[in-house]
Amino acid sequence: MSLLSPTWTAVAYLVAASCFILALKGLSAPGTARRGNLIGAGGGVLAVLISFISNDLDHVGLIVGAIVIGSAAGVPAARLVAMTQMPQLVALFNGVGGAAAALVAGIEMADASDVSAIAAAAGGFTVLVGTVSFSGSVITFMKLQGLMTTRKVTYPGGPFVFGGSLLAAVALAAAVVVDLADATLNPPLLGALAAVSLIVGVLFVLPVGGADVPIVISLLNAFTGLSVAASGYVLGNVLLLVAGTLVGASGTILTRLMAAAMGRSLTSTLFGAFKAHAVVAAGSVEDRPVRSGSAEDVAILLGYARKVIIVPGYGLAVAQAQHTLCELAELLESRGIEVLYGIHPVAGRMPGHMNVLLAEANVPYEVLKEMDEVNPQFATADVALVVGANDVVNPAAKTSPGAPIYGMPILEVGDAQQVVFLKRSMRPGFAGIENELLYDPKTMLLFGDAKESLSKVVTSVKNL
Ligand code: TAP
Repeated sequence: MSLLSPTWTAVAYLVAASCFILALKGLSAPGTARRGNLIGAGGGVLAVLISFISNDLDHVGLIVGAIVIGSAAGVPAARLVAMTQMPQLVALFNGVGGAAAALVAGIEMADASDVSAIAAAAGGFTVLVGTVSFSGSVITFMKLQGLMTTRKVTYPGGPFVFGGSLLAAVALAAAVVVDLADATLNPPLLGALAAVSLIVGVLFVLPVGGADVPIVISLLNAFTGLSVAASGYVLGNVLLLVAGTLVGASGTILTRLMAAAMGRSLTSTLFGAFKAHAVVAAGSVEDRPVRSGSAEDVAILLGYARKVIIVPGYGLAVAQAQHTLCELAELLESRGIEVLYGIHPVAGRMPGHMNVLLAEANVPYEVLKEMDEVNPQFATADVALVVGANDVVNPAAKTSPGAPIYGMPILEVGDAQQVVFLKRSMRPGFAGIENELLYDPKTMLLFGDAKESLSKVVTSVKNL
C-alpha cells in the first residue's frame, strides 16, 4: 500500500523538479556550483524516496540490491577519479543512464497490453535513443581512456553504412510502435531494435577524433536526457519528464557552446571525418632554435613586472600544479604586481576544467578573466605566463587554414611584452600541431614538469 496520496506525491515531485532547476542555476557560476550540485543531489534522493513510498513496489529487495551495487561502484569511482579523467567518467555515467532508460521503457512495453499510439512512439524513441547513447558513450569512454585509438576512424562508404543503419533503426522503431498499437509486441523485434541501435551508437562516434570527443559526450548526454524524458511519458512519471527535458536542453546548449568555443560547427565536428581534408603538417618536433631559460631567469621577468597574465592549460591539470601556481601568484601580488588569469573556454579537457582546478586552490573568482575580457589586456601585460597550455594560445588557429584548430578564438598572449611557456618538451598540444609562438624571440621556455618548475620559480622570486 502506498504511504503517500497522489496529491502529496505530485507536490513532492514538484519540490524535486524545483531542486533540479535550482541546481542548474547554481551550476552556471563557479561561486555557486558546489551548492547547486548538492541541491541537485538532494532532488535526486528525494525523487528516489518518493518512488519508494508512493508506489506499491514489487521486488523491493532487488531494487535495494541494485542501489547498493550502483552506489558501491559509483561513489568510489567519483571520489577517486583524477580530474583529467572526469570526461570519461561522465561518459560512463551518461551511458548507463541511457541504457537504464531504454531497459525500463523496453520492459514496460513488453508488459503493456493497452498502449496509446503516443506512448508507443515514446517507448520506441526511448529504446532507440537510449541505446545509441549507451553504445556511443562506451566508445567515447574507450577513446578517452586510451583503450582504443583516439583518432577518427573512417572506412570506405562510411556515410552510407551509418545512414543505412540509422534508417534500419528508425524502421524497426516504427515496426515496434505499429506492433504495440495492435497490442501484440513481438519481443524479437524489440531485441532487433536494441541491437541495431547499439550499432548506430558505435558508428556515430567512431569517426569523431579525440579533440572533439568531449563535445560528443555532451551531445550524448542530451540524447540520454531526451530518452529519459520519453521514458517518463511511457511510465506516466512527470518527474522523469521534467528531469529528462532539463538534461536534454542543457546538454544541447553545452554542446553548441563547446563547438562554438572551438570555432567548429556541430556538423563538422560529427561528420567532418567523412569529408576530404587539407593535409596539415603533423606536429613534428623541429630543430629550430628556441630561447630556453632557467627558473631564475623566469623569476626575474616575473618579479620585476607590473602586470602578469597567467594562462593555464591541460598541463597544469596533469602536473596538479594549481596550488604552487596560486602560491606564485600570491607572492607576485605581495610585490605589488597585478596578476590576472586568462581562461580559455576549452582549456584542459572538459568545460570549466581550469575554473574547477583553480577553485581547488582557492584562487579568487574575480581574478579569473574570460577570453573576451582578458584579450585586450595582454597588450598592457609585461609577461604572459603560459602554464601547460598550447592549443589555446596557438596562432595557427588564425593563420593556418586546414589546421584542426583553425577558426578557434585564442588567448592573444603574443600581444604581451614577454611570453613564458612552462612545458616539458617541444611536443605539441592536443591538436598535434606546431606552435610558432614557441620560436618567437620574445618567448622564453622553462622546460620541466609544471609543478617542479613553479616551485623553483617561487624559490627564486623569494630570493630576488
Ligand atoms: P594542450 O594544447 O593539450 O597543451 C597542453 C600542454 O601541456 C602541452 O603543450 C604539454 O607539453 C604540456 N604539459 C603536459 N603535461 C605537462 C606537465 N606535467 N607539466 C608541464 N606541461 C605539461 O592544452 P590546452 O592549451 O589546454 O588546450 C586544450 C585542448 O584540448 C584544445 O585543443 C581543445 O580544443 C581540446 N579540448 C578541450 C575541451 C574542453 S571542453 N576543455 C574538450 C575537447 C578538446 P609537453 O608535453 O611538452 O609538456
